[in-house]
Amino acid sequence: MRTMRVTTLSIFMVVTFGAWCAARGRAETEEKESVYAELAKAPEKYKLKQNPLANDRDAVAAGKVLFEEHCEDCHGAGAAGGRKAPSLRAQEVQEAAPGAIFWILTNGVVRKKMPVWSKLPEPERWQLVSYIKSLGAPDAAGARK
Ligand code: HEC
Repeated sequence: MRTMRVTTLSIFMVVTFGAWCAARGRAETEEKESVYAELAKAPEKYKLKQNPLANDRDAVAAGKVLFEEHCEDCHGAGAAGGRKAPSLRAQEVQEAAPGAIFWILTNGVVRKKMPVWSKLPEPERWQLVSYIKSLGAPDAAGARK
């Protein structure tokens, strides 16, 4: 009888603790700012900038090489997300203005460990933008790259 009471009590405690953890987890995710929130903070001046290489057919390939050299370590192969940084294939990035991505590259999000890339010449930053944007465009068959 005593064993049963102890068992019931233990089960009750586990369930209560579980519910508490779940509630806490929910509260934390709600409070936490989206990892992509920074893009929305780009100044209008940048958001309105057009990618000067938008029609340059080599920009995507050049951007891919730059990405593999500088970004892949954190953002993962094909920008699909890595241990240190989020995917750049996410809707938030794919729908962001090209100029907003350029702004992120130029200024970084240093307090959140996204480095500043202003040492890369502007055309290279735009090549990176072209590459990132190419990841969201479905190919002829409708499949994503
Ligand atoms: C040292 C790791 C690291 C490297 C290297 C790095 N990033 Fe990031 N990057 C991050 C982190 C972390 C974030 C998320 C910042 C935040 O929380 O706002 C981020 C955010 C971004 C974003 C904005 C989307 C978002 O998640 O807010 C873009 C675009 C981006 N990175 C592109 C690049 C490109 C292009 C390169 C290479 C030139 C690069 N990053 C290199 C760590 C890195």
